[in-house]
Amino acid sequence: MSSNAGQRKRSARYQRARVRHFLLTSGPSRLSKGWIVRRHHSDPVELRDVEIRLPNWPEAFDGLRIAHVSDLHFGELMPMDRALAIAETVRRARPDMICNTGDLVDLDCDGVEPLTRAIGNISTRCGNFFVPGNHDELDSVDEVKRVVTRAGIIVLDGDVCEIRRGEHRLRIGGIGWARSPSHCRARVDRLLGKSGHVDVLLSHNPKAFDHAAERGVLLVLSGHTHGGQIARRNRPNANLAIAHHRSAGLYELGPSRLFVTTGAGAWFPVRVNCPAEVALLTIRRSYPDQPAN
Ligand SMILES: [Fe+2]
Repeated sequence: MSSNAGQRKRSARYQRARVRHFLLTSGPSRLSKGWIVRRHHSDPVELRDVEIRLPNWPEAFDGLRIAHVSDLHFGELMPMDRALAIAETVRRARPDMICNTGDLVDLDCDGVEPLTRAIGNISTRCGNFFVPGNHDELDSVDEVKRVVTRAGIIVLDGDVCEIRRGEHRLRIGGIGWARSPSHCRARVDRLLGKSGHVDVLLSHNPKAFDHAAERGVLLVLSGHTHGGQIARRNRPNANLAIAHHRSAGLYELGPSRLFVTTGAGAWFPVRVNCPAEVALLTIRRSYPDQPAN
């Protein structure tokens, strides 16, 4: 990617995020002579297997394996070597599909191209998708989308892609960053108004789930919360992400499911009882005599 950082006008949101980054990451790192960030980098990123059972999941796609990657936050807390190792973990898992639910970059998007290339080069039978998160908007969301697209990854910002197996179809849709439930609702309505039915929705913000479930979306994949990064032992939902009542793991609403990954990266260099992860989801159709999730 060419470096246009000097030419871009930084928004007030970007400047605030920079200050926050200094207070929570760069400053403490300097004071500790880099120990805090080195300590953070020594934590592994877990590959977490999760089975999700859905009553209305199309039989032709029973057993679909999705690598759900989110919140890489490429930058000081996610250097390129760590990010490329995560991409390699995903490649070795041989998923049918990759769904990246945003916050690819932490602040600046320059330099992220080797990572998008590595993810884009992973061959999958059913596609490689991305939706932007709030951090992707801080520097230039257009540049993030450009570099992701250039790597062969499909950006679903208000779009739907159809996967076919014989005569059967699975529709994957995505919405860009939406802050509030009402903003999420508007984005979901716009997507469905334009494209009709969607089976799987990618939304950085899990707050899209209520309305998506109401509108018949079977599965929503989200990130954003990082599982709070600090959680009570064995209680992943008791965490610092207090603005979200669905912040880590699997949730259900009628026949719909939401999976919120705790993410692969971080926006401050501490995780307690909340390991960074890539989720390997196996989606199964459930039958009336089987318990749902
Ligand atoms: Fe994030």
